[in-house]
Amino acid sequence: MYLITGGAGFIGSHIATRLVHQGHRVRVLDNLASGSVRNLEPIMDDVEFIEGDIRDTGALRRAMAGAEVVFHEAAEPSVPRSIADPASTFAINVEGTLNVLTAARDLECRRVVFATTCAIYGDAPELPKLESLPPAPLSPYAMSKLTGEHLCAMYSRLYGLETVGLRYFNVFGPRQDPSSAYAAAIPKFLEALHAGHQPRVFGDGEQSRDFVAVDDVVRANLLAAGADGVGGRVFNVASGKSVTINQVLATLGEVTGIDATPEYLPARAGDILHSLADVSLARRYLGFEATIGFREGIERIVHDGQRATTLIAA
Ligand SMILES: NC(=O)c1ccc[n+]([C@@H]2O[C@H](COP(=O)([O-])OP(=O)(O)OC[C@H]3O[C@@H](n4cnc5c(N)ncnc54)[C@H](O)[C@@H]3O)[C@@H](O)[C@H]2O)c1
Repeated sequence: MYLITGGAGFIGSHIATRLVHQGHRVRVLDNLASGSVRNLEPIMDDVEFIEGDIRDTGALRRAMAGAEVVFHEAAEPSVPRSIADPASTFAINVEGTLNVLTAARDLECRRVVFATTCAIYGDAPELPKLESLPPAPLSPYAMSKLTGEHLCAMYSRLYGLETVGLRYFNVFGPRQDPSSAYAAAIPKFLEALHAGHQPRVFGDGEQSRDFVAVDDVVRANLLAAGADGVGGRVFNVASGKSVTINQVLATLGEVTGIDATPEYLPARAGDILHSLADVSLARRYLGFEATIGFREGIERIVHDGQRATTLIAA
């Protein structure tokens, strides 16, 4: 049985869906802080859903019972919220992760796959980012994830619990929530285009990111659950390709057929200009390589949105 903490969220619900389609038993533990049971609706009959919090050790132990692998996605994922309230981010992302690892150790779960982030690289100028670069977290969020990585490695060394950290870069795909004030760029842009608003870009739009499609991220998780000789390690999960914000908007315009000319606003202080992963370690140890190109990933979002609209209309 697979346990997914945060399985009602964007990435967790995609992992749950893939596992259910492969015929596996899946349990989700989620307190619905930023996720929604709507994300699990199509597979709800095949998932054991527990509404609970990773800060609650009792709920966690009940959820962990019988789990062979845990995909630990639950987190406070917002950088601005972590800056506004570092203690709460640490309670969820550090203490919560410690609770997940301890329950996994005590209940003899084989492996914990931990969702971590490229934010731990901070704004160091070296590109592409190699896992061996010294971390430079710039926010409580990044620091909390780095601490989670260290906890994972420590539990691996001390207790023999197999842990694998996956440093996701900019994940995109269907079901990414555009409604939060801290939402990622692509769902925000799409929401603006569909509402007839001009998308807003901070700076000249030449800043770049390494976007990775959520279906590829799911595949990286499944590979990390099964690979040999990876206990205690961390891997970049990314496409290894750089896309500028202007290219994002051009692609969105082409795929949706809506004019995506943005309004340019002054650059925001502290924004990272370029982010790009070296992906050779994941290729070597996990056999992982992203296979979904940027345009194809955007097409999947737009088609998924159209299907949802047709279903509602019907
Ligand atoms: N989306 C990205 O581009 C990205 C990039 C790097 C890392 N990550 C990490 O990937 C993971 C999943 O991110 P996402 O984009 O799917 O975010 P999300 O907000 O959609 O999912 C997080 C889930 O965790 C749940 N949750 C939050 N606090 C909880 C708690 N205390 N107990 C139980 N459940 C709780 C939320 O309700 C939500 O369903 C997170 O750990 C995030 O930090 C995401």
